[in-house]
Amino acid sequence: MFQTRVTQLLDIEYPIIQGGMLWLSRAEFTAAVSNAGALGILSGLSFPTPEELRDEIRKLRHLTDKPFGVNIPLLPTLKQIDLSQYIRAALEEGVTIFETAGNNPSPYLEQMKAGGALVLHKTASLKHALHAQELGADIIAIMGFEGGGHPGMSEVTSLVLIPRAVDTLKVPVVAAGGFGDGRGLAAALALGAEAILMGTRFVATQECLAHPRLKEWMAQARETDTMIVERSLGFPLRVVKNQQARRVLEAEAQGLSLDQLAPLITGQLAKQAWETGEFDTALLACGQVVGLIQDIPTVKELIAGIVKEAQAVAQRLTGLGLPAAGGA
Ligand SMILES: Cc1cc2nc3c(=O)[nH]c(=O)nc-3n(C[C@H](O)[C@H](O)[C@H](O)COP(=O)(O)O)c2cc1C
Repeated sequence: MFQTRVTQLLDIEYPIIQGGMLWLSRAEFTAAVSNAGALGILSGLSFPTPEELRDEIRKLRHLTDKPFGVNIPLLPTLKQIDLSQYIRAALEEGVTIFETAGNNPSPYLEQMKAGGALVLHKTASLKHALHAQELGADIIAIMGFEGGGHPGMSEVTSLVLIPRAVDTLKVPVVAAGGFGDGRGLAAALALGAEAILMGTRFVATQECLAHPRLKEWMAQARETDTMIVERSLGFPLRVVKNQQARRVLEAEAQGLSLDQLAPLITGQLAKQAWETGEFDTALLACGQVVGLIQDIPTVKELIAGIVKEAQAVAQRLTGLGLPAAGGA
């Protein structure tokens, strides 16, 4: 059911992928996603050292025998990080799937491919998607502007970006940004994508490490409760509309540099807020799809519900009596 090139390449039951989420996608949560038949992705840079990532991968292996991936974000970081050491540790631990995102994957993609891994590159730009395909990326996840995290500078939403990517690329396309239910999965498949990748919807699940208070906020939030910050840095970030996001926007309007903004945007604040449930003290990545979230299910319930709803949509469309291609 819903078998695509992506389910075949990744050896997963359902065409659903959990995008890497800094601080949140650790072993227990990632294992829950993979055990439910989707692809769980561990967040590589949630660990201060490559050795700690190695320990987490070992822990994850005890929790699932299903495929999983490791996310390596390529955006410039406030602290210098040697990503190749993280990739090496993951490859040595037998990781066969990487999700890269945020920048040109060139040198790292080479290292991953040389290690025999499959690379899913996530981008919001068709130009960058084509470049990653040329470099050897196996799958492209295309990210619409409604998505949580870094939805790119071009501000194109999923409904246009997905068919454009499908028409432009040879490798399979994964739809990211704005997906959270079975209607979205059916729509993405209808547009030619071969899986969906979700972040925000996965945060509001029982297994996710986010503080319950923040998950409860998500279950009653509206689609208008997110905003974009860090445009001035060239890497727009979609986050919860809270006091910290407003502070950052004001500081950007005053022309503050990256160094000056650093104390306001450091990921350590987000780490602390996800743990303590403080709402207004950090930039918390979140997509517009938050407006569709009304519950906090287990990961297994969420995935089963999405698949069931997508099947119902497919049946409903068939019931509309659309003639088969070439039919009368
Ligand atoms: C809390 C949170 C943290 C995220 N952290 C990362 C990350 O570390 N690396 C990355 O490539 N993408 C990250 N993302 C983006 C997601 O992997 C995914 O691409 C995005 O959430 C998809 O859009 P959606 O939020 O509409 O589902 C994050 C998203 C959220 C909501």
